This record gives sequence, C-alpha cells and structure tokens, in this order.
Amino acid sequence: MILKNFSATGFRNLEIKNQELSPGTNIIFGNNAQGKTNFLEAIYFCAFGRSLRARSDSELIKRNEKITHIRLETERAGMFSVLDARIELMGKKSVKSVAIDFISVKHMKDLFGRVLVVMFSPEDLRLIKAGPSERRRFMDMEICQLSPVYYSDLREYHRALKQRNALLKILQKDKSQYDGLSIWDEQLTKCGLKIMKTRSAFVKKINEIAAEIHKNITRGEETLELEYKPGISPDMFKKTIEGSHEKDIFRGTTSDGIHTDDIEFTINNISARHFGSQGQQRTAALSAKLAEIEIIRQSKNETPILLLDDVLSELDKHRQKFLFEQIKNLQTIVTCTGTEEFQIKKYKKLVMEEGKFK
Ligand SMILES: Nc1ncnc2c1ncn2[C@@H]1O[C@H](COP(=O)(O)OP(=O)(O)O)[C@@H](O)[C@H]1O
Ligand SMILES: [Mg+2]
Repeated sequence: MILKNFSATGFRNLEIKNQELSPGTNIIFGNNAQGKTNFLEAIYFCAFGRSLRARSDSELIKRNEKITHIRLETERAGMFSVLDARIELMGKKSVKSVAIDFISVKHMKDLFGRVLVVMFSPEDLRLIKAGPSERRRFMDMEICQLSPVYYSDLREYHRALKQRNALLKILQKDKSQYDGLSIWDEQLTKCGLKIMKTRSAFVKKINEIAAEIHKNITRGEETLELEYKPGISPDMFKKTIEGSHEKDIFRGTTSDGIHTDDIEFTINNISARHFGSQGQQRTAALSAKLAEIEIIRQSKNETPILLLDDVLSELDKHRQKFLFEQIKNLQTIVTCTGTEEFQIKKYKKLVMEEGKFK
C-alpha cells in the first residue's frame, strides 16, 4: 500500500496541501517542534481513528481553531482511494468523521485495515518496559488491523466486563441481584475464549518471525522469544470466574479474564522487561514491529506503510543497515532531526518547517 498524496489543515500545527510522497523511502528532516511527528500522527490517525499520544481528539485540532481535515490519497493493488478524516469541536466535545471514497465510515471497525500502517517510535520501548496493559494494547491494535471480528469481540467483552463490574458493586450492598452475575460470566467466557485464541495465534506467529529478525539484527548474538501469557486458563475460563464471585464482590471488580493477559519477551531466556538493557529492549521492540509488517503482508497480501519516528539516530550502523535492507520493498516515512549519515542511498528528502514542507 502506498500513500501517494497527503493534505492536512489545522491538524496541530500542520498546513500541508497535496504533498506527494515517494513509494520508497521518504526522510523528513527538521529541527525540533516543527511538526514531523504530527505528520506521522495524522497518518496514524487515519488508519486507527485515534492518536497514539493525544489524550483526546480535540487536542489534535490546531489551537484556537474548530476543525481539522486530513486527506490521504492511497494506492493499493492498483486501486486508488481517497480517505477524508475530520475532527470538529462542538462546544466542549469533539466529533470525528471519516469517509473513504466519499462514503462515510459508520463504525470504527470498518476503518481498521483500510490504511495499513505500522509505526515505530521511541515510545515503543514501552512495549517491553511498561506494564502488561501496553502489550495488550499492542496485540489489540495490531490484530484489529487484520480482523474486524476481533474488534467486535473485544468491544463486546469490555462491555460485559463493565456491566459485570457495575453489578459487583451493587452486590456489595444488596445481594438480591446475585443471579444476574451468571449472564455476564457467560458473556465474558464466550468472547474471552475467542479473543484468547486469536491472541495466542498472533503471538505465536509474531514470535516465529521476530525471532528470525532479531537474530539477524544482533548478528546471531541474541535469541528473542515472545510468549503469550493468558491471565486465565482457557480450559478453566468459566470455572475460574464463577469461582471468584465472592472475591470479586469484595473487590468490586472482575479479577480474572483476558483483561489481565500479557506477552513475555525474553532475550537469551532472560526476561527482557526486567533485565534487558535499553538497547536490547529497543531492538526487541523493533523486531516485534518488523515482524508485524510481515504478518500484515502475509494475511492481507499487501505491505503496510511504515512510519519511523526519530529512531534512526538510536540505531548503530549495522542495525540501520539491516533495517533499511528489511524495509526496501515497502513505503517508509522516516523522521529525523540531524544531518546524520544514513545507511541508504536513494530516498526522497522532505524538510519540515513550522508545520509545512519547504
Ligand atoms: N493543537 C495544536 N495546535 C497548534 N500547534 C500544536 C498543537 N499541538 C502541537 N502543536 C505544535 O506542534 C509542534 C510539535 O510538533 P511535533 O511534530 O511534535 O515536532 P517534531 O518536529 O519535533 O516531531 C510544536 O510547535 C507544538 O506547539
Ligand atoms: Mg518528533
């Protein structure tokens, strides 16, 4: 998939009209705070309907403005497509809307997978370093691009979880609705088992591919392994949550389920989260992200657009070279500040200044 042309008005500080992009490597140069990350964020927003770093959509609208509009023109297997995304302030609330080829996208699940994107930024270190919720988010975002059904199951699961937790709080004071719990146990089990199956298969696949990539990046020095660590045993799903009624009522929350899942990253059999160096953690995260490209390629028969924010300077020459070798067959948009020497000969150079390309 290729992003051919980009326009944005009022997206943070961006004012860009019909910027053409190369189907190969695009490198965006610019000083700090010029809008390089904003540019990648705008593309990411069109793919996922949300930002990676903003707490709310309204943050994305230029200060003192009421509306932002992004337009992407893409090409996928010879087919051209136009995506229009808007966020509008209505009083204190913001309303977003997306249209693909001028037809409005009604549900976010219909947006997933339309613009295939893999992003890697310094914050991705959190994938290894932070708590389990970060790794669940990784699984969820990536799988949603591949499977709209997964998104629906996930929504249903979280809706049931919310209802169950609300009921648990009521039961702390009034036990008369106790029988109502079984409906939510049933619902959590139904959706939870489907989600676990998909997550497990996803991590297994990522593991196979990432291990190979990681071996190559580290010139055979490190063995990376990813293992899905479910928060609840699939064979005992319903039994476990049914057996936790008393505990859950006492706590007012559901203790077990897929909302406590995790992925364990190990390097040479040692936990990367607890014992990995910063460099090892960064490389492990990069391997996982590069593996994702391959998974998308296999399941969608299409390459995603790779967005690399400020990561080149953190990689040594060998790793940079390996990275460019890995991504040579897909469109990549890279940001960087300096005038570093890159281990790549052919690329389109773009210079960002105060939200515009020079
Ligand atoms: N909602 C907003 N309205 C206007 N400008 C914004 C908004 N949010 C961020 N900015 C501006 O965007 C710039 C930072 O952009 P960013 O893409 O993060 O920079 P960099 O080029 O370093 O990646 C800053 O100048 C900041 O003031
Ligand atoms: Mg930046």
